[in-house]
Amino acid sequence: MNRYAIVLAAGKGTRMQSLDPEHSKVAYPILGKPLINYVIDAIKPLSFNRISVVVGFGGEVTKSLVEDQVDNVVWQREILGTGHAVKQTESFMKDLDGETLIIYGDTPLVSTETIKQILHIHEKENNDLTVVSAVLPNPSGYGRLIREEKSRALLAIREETDCVGYEKDIDEVNTGICVFNNKKLFSYIDRMDQNNARKLFYLSQLVDIFVKDELKVDSYVCTDMVEVFGINDRVQLAYASKVMRKRINNKLMLSGVSIEDPDSTYISQDAVIGKDTIILPNTTILGKCVIGNANTIGPNTFLQNVTIGDENMVLSSWISDSTIGNHNETGPYAKLRAGTIIENNCRVGNFVELKNAHYHDGVKSAHLTYIGDTEVGQKTNIGCGTVTANYDGFNKDRTTIGEECFIGSGTIMVAPIKIDDRSFTAAGSTITKDVNSDDMAIARARQETI
Ligand code: UD1
Ligand code: MG
Repeated sequence: MNRYAIVLAAGKGTRMQSLDPEHSKVAYPILGKPLINYVIDAIKPLSFNRISVVVGFGGEVTKSLVEDQVDNVVWQREILGTGHAVKQTESFMKDLDGETLIIYGDTPLVSTETIKQILHIHEKENNDLTVVSAVLPNPSGYGRLIREEKSRALLAIREETDCVGYEKDIDEVNTGICVFNNKKLFSYIDRMDQNNARKLFYLSQLVDIFVKDELKVDSYVCTDMVEVFGINDRVQLAYASKVMRKRINNKLMLSGVSIEDPDSTYISQDAVIGKDTIILPNTTILGKCVIGNANTIGPNTFLQNVTIGDENMVLSSWISDSTIGNHNETGPYAKLRAGTIIENNCRVGNFVELKNAHYHDGVKSAHLTYIGDTEVGQKTNIGCGTVTANYDGFNKDRTTIGEECFIGSGTIMVAPIKIDDRSFTAAGSTITKDVNSDDMAIARARQETI
């Protein structure tokens, strides 16, 4: 069976009330990941022959978020409604045999399992259109399902702004997720009109049109209301974030990660964390982090795109785009910036900032230090207050420090510079010339006591 998916993501997001008129709604993040990427990640495992995303408002940003993960990114230049958005894929979709899932880019909580079930029912029942509905305690804002009184057969979907009389009291709503027989979808797509309060082409109008033409239309009631929750404003964004956070934390805890205070722990859906790792309160782990077993992380720690091995302590630290091996101690109050590599058995202590620095095994810098664009050989000790002066106002230069060196407290190394193996710099020295192996360099004014 051929399957296609069209993700709609061109809408304006007016209700987000952003100052930036070009801010794409589906780019708003939950736990560091844009809304639309949750939707794409949920459908990706279901072997679609083609996934298309319709972008428009803030489209360049939306496109950049999805283009390497989907088959087509299509522009909707005028935002004329969900039906009009689907029509933008017509040129390459209309002749394809198979079934087409339509889903909105603003429903990040939807699960792969639910989509799988919907596709399964649609295909098994041989439907021309399967609409996914949900019964909500507060249906306001959603399109309502209009059913035949006796048979309960689905007749139409009425958008809230078009509801009359009792229709607003209907609590069964359109989730926006539906599956069409692809060829029927496109043979009927020009039958939609703009005869509604907002003068838009509503995809939901096709329900009515299909029913009148006696095509096979059915509905699937999704029992987990949360899954089909659409984000239209920032209150809903915060709510979805909370639900997602809980889901992620629970999954991690059930797999063997300890999270001491899940209410103050924010972990990305894409993080991988090993067993017996303990996450202490106020910790945020975003992006693609891979963290091994038996680490202690936090409290008050921020990690983004970090790879961490086993049995490390990462205490009250801020680390991004860096790699840490095994048995290291970081923090409290360490900042590790892009490109930093810490191998094994190292210590990066309090108020130490590293940028694009590589510590080989056993390096120690216990306090108050800046090391940037630097290679440090194994077992070297870096004294308190050491600085690599790596920037001359125009260029960034490298510092190379060998193995088993002793960098005295308060050393300033003016890059580019090389300090060779087992050498020694005297405390308070400003080192501007290379130091050979086994040498000691002293570069400071001799004390005079008057
Ligand atoms: C839509 C449904 C409504 C349903 C609700 C569920 C329609 C007409 N309405 O309303 O029945 O209850 O979702 O959340 O389908 N979009 C485009 N191009 C457009 C307009 C919208 O790509 O011209 C995209 C948006 O980016 C968004 C999605 O379609 O991802 C839904 O649009 P939105 O404006 O959020 O529709 P709702 O008012 O929520
Ligand atoms: Mg919406």
